[in-house]
Amino acid sequence: MNFKLLAQITTLTLTCMLTTSAFAGEVEVLHWWTSGGEAKSVAVLKDLLEKEGHSWKDMAVAGGAGENAMTVLKTRAMAGNPPTAAQVKGPAIQEWAEEGLLTNLDAVAVKENWDKLVPSVVTDVMKYEGNYVAVPVNVHKINWMWCNPSIFVKAGAKIPTTWAEFETSAEKIKAAGFLPVAFGGQSWQEATVFESIVVGQAGTEFYKKALVDTDPKALNSPEMIKALETFKMIKKYTDKNAPGRDWNMATSMIINGEAAMQFMGDWAKGEFTAAGKNPGSDYVVMPVPESAGTYLFNVDSFIMFKQNDENAQAAQNAMARLILGTTFQEVFNVNKGSIPVRTGIAKASFDDTALRSMDEFAAAAANGTLLPSMAHGMAVSPAIQGAIYDVVTKFYNSDMTAGKAAAELVAATASAKE
Ligand code: GAL
Repeated sequence: MNFKLLAQITTLTLTCMLTTSAFAGEVEVLHWWTSGGEAKSVAVLKDLLEKEGHSWKDMAVAGGAGENAMTVLKTRAMAGNPPTAAQVKGPAIQEWAEEGLLTNLDAVAVKENWDKLVPSVVTDVMKYEGNYVAVPVNVHKINWMWCNPSIFVKAGAKIPTTWAEFETSAEKIKAAGFLPVAFGGQSWQEATVFESIVVGQAGTEFYKKALVDTDPKALNSPEMIKALETFKMIKKYTDKNAPGRDWNMATSMIINGEAAMQFMGDWAKGEFTAAGKNPGSDYVVMPVPESAGTYLFNVDSFIMFKQNDENAQAAQNAMARLILGTTFQEVFNVNKGSIPVRTGIAKASFDDTALRSMDEFAAAAANGTLLPSMAHGMAVSPAIQGAIYDVVTKFYNSDMTAGKAAAELVAATASAKE
């Protein structure tokens, strides 16, 4: 026997075991991050897990804002075969926890100090009956407008800060032969634009009453009717191919110089970044008209399903730990266009929009003006959200009057609560 070789092999094996985890398991991860920027972002987590010796089974379900992913998740859970982890947000986390299917993540949370690192406005959503059942990933801001500056220059138009300016600029852009708005006609995208108009025009208190508390008086009010009318006004500046268009296709139209503006959350930045575009010169990002100073937030998170196998548990805990670790928080968020959800992350790699978003998030959290996004599952239950989506999309895609739509919002949200 060659003892020297045996000793070398043993050392090598031991080194491998020490650099990977004692238990190497698999995580099957259900998510909807399939666009260029999103896929690049989620790959960071896969790499980190694999470096620790775990394996990643990708369960990506295409479809912005996760509607399709949620359908798949329900089917899997009903069949008694849920994935290890799934991208689920906001009040829906509580609904999943009530089913008794989720892993208690308190051990990782205590060890990693999540309560200290993550603001309570976020941790409250991640806990069920005081225990962590979800891991927050990032913070996205919804009410942004992405512009192609060279179209504005060619059209002699100003980047708008009010809806009146928007109409003036959109007319000039149209006259110069460009498409003013890159619009994706899917109900979640319509709801995204709509809620950004509501908060800007009618203010934070009104937004809370209408789209968080679903107060009938706010839902059927002159402010709501005005917001609906502004939303519908945008339609004349969109193209005939808008229905069904994916959000990242709309972002490509800004990148390629086919359209001047897109109203979308800051995951759009992930597409500009992936395409090698620079903020300021290649694209300009501004708040949705009239919404400066307001912050509609959207926190992505993963719930984890109970595992019997020790290796799978180890992989799941590693995933939870890595998500809130400094490497992932920095690299993922730079790629994704979001900002870190925890403190203590170096700011050097973030651009001005992200730094501005960090300051705004902290300020809005401190003065109580941070507003959960209805369109992105942060404000109301999935049933109420679905009811609002239905009315908004019906209104936008038919000749329904704004008054009728406002009345329907009251009826639809009331029946979703029953
Ligand atoms: C949001 C999600 C973002 C982004 C976007 C488009 O709901 O929070 O991370 O993926 O949908 O799919």
